[in-house]
Amino acid sequence: MTKRLRIISPKRNRRLQTGWEGFFPYYAGYPELFARELLKSARLPHSAVVLDPWNGSGTTTYTATSLGLNSIGIDLNPVMIVVARARLLPPSEADHLRPLAATILSHAHSAPLPLQPDDALLGWFDPATAAFVRGIEQNIRRSLVGSMTKSPDGVHLDRISGTAATLYVALFAACRRLVAPFRSSNPTWLRAPKPYDTRIAASKAAIARDFGNNVRGMSAALAEKHEADQSQKRLPHPGDCKVSLSDTVTMDLAPGSVDFVLTSPPYCTRIDYTAATRIELAVLAPLLKTAERALGRQMIGSTQVPKGEIDVDEGWGETCLGFLAALRAHPSKASGGYYFRTHLDYFDKMNRSMQRLAVGLKAGGRAVLVVQDSYYKDIHNDLPTIITEIGAGHGLTLAQSKSFHLRSMSDVNPGRKTYVRPSGATESVLCFTK
Ligand SMILES: C[S@@+](CC[C@H](N)C(=O)[O-])C[C@H]1O[C@@H](n2cnc3c(N)ncnc32)[C@H](O)[C@@H]1O
Repeated sequence: MTKRLRIISPKRNRRLQTGWEGFFPYYAGYPELFARELLKSARLPHSAVVLDPWNGSGTTTYTATSLGLNSIGIDLNPVMIVVARARLLPPSEADHLRPLAATILSHAHSAPLPLQPDDALLGWFDPATAAFVRGIEQNIRRSLVGSMTKSPDGVHLDRISGTAATLYVALFAACRRLVAPFRSSNPTWLRAPKPYDTRIAASKAAIARDFGNNVRGMSAALAEKHEADQSQKRLPHPGDCKVSLSDTVTMDLAPGSVDFVLTSPPYCTRIDYTAATRIELAVLAPLLKTAERALGRQMIGSTQVPKGEIDVDEGWGETCLGFLAALRAHPSKASGGYYFRTHLDYFDKMNRSMQRLAVGLKAGGRAVLVVQDSYYKDIHNDLPTIITEIGAGHGLTLAQSKSFHLRSMSDVNPGRKTYVRPSGATESVLCFTK
């Protein structure tokens, strides 16, 4: 008889995001406390492997590592790979961060390098600002991204050192503050400037100060965390963690290699996970193999119309088929066209990912998925039931679940104001066994 899991609310909570945690805010993430309580209650042996196939800011991998469990985190967005790697930085490295940042800044000041005319940062910043930001980035890359990360086919961000990743996160935060004028009320959306928009200008001193402050803050928070952990004797030998830049639709997990899955799949509410990290992608551009648009198309929940035809699959279950039929028949503009096709793309990618996830999970293993429902205009998209039915098609049985009401929905779906529907959303924690 498997033990029941302890499920507390997975709702994001600013109060819980302080100290080291506060440096990794992600609108799409769940709190570390949620992951910690759940993983502890699973009573996994220390040899167990925990997988998060949609690892985002790395809450699962960070928590598993600190509990002494081995983990694998997958994400398709290179930014989230860097963030998840930074979060794993061992506290012993806290002291190195400030001197390293000082050296990087001094090189960026003393030896400015010419900026390439097509540098992605020029989409946001005026040439002087872009050149200084790129100078910092180049110096992080030159001093900390070494032969372990590079190979003939390019840079492997999933091998980047925790120190390099942390300095990148400090630079991301500085750039994010600079581009605040391009933020909208929707937390998931960072508007790209139009060619006629004035580019952002900031002095070298202001950029250096912000970057330096971020590094100082991270270093202090990491040292504080270490002290707190030591005083609470919460220091098991950290587990091994592999963070991998891959696509769950094509991922290749060895059959039966995973003991436990803890994850929150991409939302089905037209969240463009690449648009939300546009500025970070511009910072990382020299290290990337895939352009932003191509990456956006690959994402589950993409807002781009898929190339080629996708057939509705009976295996997606009756709730999904009913939802798709209602969506297609909806009288409003573009429902039967654009919206139908992007939803087909979502369910097709989710189904293929769930199939691969189920293969990777060992018999008797458990998979916990945090899933939110939503509305397309006045049609209920009961994603928790849809995922349950897709899971059943791949040999996953729902053994336990708990739902939480959210006051607001992470929703950029059309029709929010026009159609009558309940306010908020339901977030369900679905626990499957294989
Ligand atoms: C809801 S978020 C996960 C948040 C995470 N639980 C946390 O605490 O930060 C979903 C993640 O799935 C990723 N994603 C979307 N499509 C993907 C795909 N095809 N393969 C792998 N990751 C994908 C997105 O980049 C995003 O970070």
